[in-house]
Amino acid sequence: MSQENLNRNSFANERPPEGTRILARAPSNIAILKYMGKSDSALNLPMNPSLSLTLNDLCTWAEVSIEASSTFSLSIGESSPKLEASSAAGLVAPVWSDASRGKAHRHVERVRNELRPVFEDLGWGWMDGAWTLRTANTFPAGAGIASSASSFAAMTLAFAAAGCASGDRFREEWRRPEVLSRITSLSRRGSGSSCRSFYGPWALWEGDAARELPAPRMPELCDLVVVVDAGTKSVSSSEAHARAMDSPIWPGRPERVARRLEKARSALESADLPALSALAWADAWEMHSLFHSLPQPFTYWSADTLEILKWAESHRAWVSDNEPPIVTLDAGPNVHLIVPRRSKDPWLEKLRATFGQFSILADDQGRGAELLENGGQKKL
Ligand code: PMV
Repeated sequence: MSQENLNRNSFANERPPEGTRILARAPSNIAILKYMGKSDSALNLPMNPSLSLTLNDLCTWAEVSIEASSTFSLSIGESSPKLEASSAAGLVAPVWSDASRGKAHRHVERVRNELRPVFEDLGWGWMDGAWTLRTANTFPAGAGIASSASSFAAMTLAFAAAGCASGDRFREEWRRPEVLSRITSLSRRGSGSSCRSFYGPWALWEGDAARELPAPRMPELCDLVVVVDAGTKSVSSSEAHARAMDSPIWPGRPERVARRLEKARSALESADLPALSALAWADAWEMHSLFHSLPQPFTYWSADTLEILKWAESHRAWVSDNEPPIVTLDAGPNVHLIVPRRSKDPWLEKLRATFGQFSILADDQGRGAELLENGGQKKL
């Protein structure tokens, strides 16, 4: 009998230990150099490399509870008291639409099909069962924070841990580069930018691989987000990826981003905040200019977005010439100001005093997805 059947049968015949569950957590991330445009939309491969700062508390928790069953099933449950008790921050259960349920089901199939042979080769085995997925975010839907990066990263890690028959080994070894790279690639297939949420604080995604970019001299940073509009985006990021390449200013973008990346690497090495700030500013404006220059243009900006951008530009030297905020925007109207943690309070006060009509989120840099509690500790 193969290891797989052995594991499956033993799991099918025995009751799993009470409370068998996997708990994973993954933060959101904010790109300094943006992923925009896909070279392969089925695999979510990017036209250009991207660089991001991983956040910490703005995250998704994913719980998979497992019951014995000889056949695989996934159901999606509401948030549970156990899940809520696992996080100090208030959790918000997502609203599962038919579309998002469909995505989760497709994703679990991807993970099962592709990780099973990897785990079997490693001798870790694979185990199905009746799985129930529950997720919760630490930020409400429509808070202006993209939840797809954090939720796909958290779900992928939880599914991988749930499927691995040697739970303890998974828990100890899932960060081995050959395992982690498979997990992050799978996560990328669900949501491109989610592959960066496994690494931190600085994550680089090039081609089919993401990794941490060491930056030991950089000060600790935090992200302050002025939430101009918490509504749903009129143009999804998938649609933006598809349309952006029709812009007359698209030609040369991958090369321009590659050049910015070289400069950003040196800036991270030498902790050159002014250089990093200038690169982020140029790249955010360029990405939004792609949308603004389409044959049928669209914008994510509101008048307030532009006002905050102009204010931020005029406050570049507010703390000191050497410490300008890194100002950027995702595919949305909300403005991110990334500042050293030591200046977080004065910046927050200043932003609250100037833009009191908007809510402002604040989060520190973080280290990426993690497996928590009894994640992986299945006794078979
Ligand atoms: O991962 P997606 O498909 O939601 O694309 C994200 C694209 C941007 O947020 C606009 C930029 C980025 O690199 O995160």
